Amino acid sequence: MIIAIDGPAAAGKGTLAKRLAEHFELAYLDTGLIYRAVGKKMVDEGFNLESIEKAESIAKALSPVDLEIEGLRTDEVAQMASKVSVIPGVRSALLEFQRSFAERPPAGKRGAVLDGRDIGTIVCPNANLKLFVTARTTIRAERRFKELQKRGLEAIYARVLEDIKERDARDSSRSASPLEPASDAYQLDTSALDSNQVFAEALEIVEAVGIS
Ligand code: CDP
Repeated sequence: MIIAIDGPAAAGKGTLAKRLAEHFELAYLDTGLIYRAVGKKMVDEGFNLESIEKAESIAKALSPVDLEIEGLRTDEVAQMASKVSVIPGVRSALLEFQRSFAERPPAGKRGAVLDGRDIGTIVCPNANLKLFVTARTTIRAERRFKELQKRGLEAIYARVLEDIKERDARDSSRSASPLEPASDAYQLDTSALDSNQVFAEALEIVEAVGIS
């Protein structure tokens, strides 16, 4: 059983994905972390984010422990991720990692929930359920701002909003796997919902689709 969750930055994909994974006893993969790890390694190793060959070789060599690198959750690293994720060779190198997680989930789980930008369209086009989670840009910026503050990270609301807009524009306009809903995805606008309501709506969709 595979559940694919896509959507723009800070729409609530991760929170929903984790709850669905727990509820249905599925493995969970935050695919954004993979791109964040590649972007961060590039900068830590002193390379320019536009250095295509270096980004591809870092992506090819990526291992699960790299997802535990400290500091992956900052907005600065999110921008790095967005920049390296336009490179087709980086995306293809990371595709196998994501597909094998979905096909052979760890710890003997019977399936997986993956969240990102191209899960329903490219990584798992045959997923049992595809959700496209959105929310108004200012609401997403407020949520991310609070989340960063909660993690003890320095954040300025106007800057968070600009970062999100910039990243959404880049993610949606790139030619390799742009951010877009799969034709068979269910759209979930979370602007007026809290995380419990989002989860309840997703469960209703699961029930309607009849996949559990
Ligand atoms: O948490 P947030 O939604 O802000 O971002 P994320 O899911 O951690 O993703 C960070 C960046 O990685 C995105 O802005 C995308 O550029 C890239 N990404 C991607 O291209 N494809 C994915 N499947 C996941 C993330």
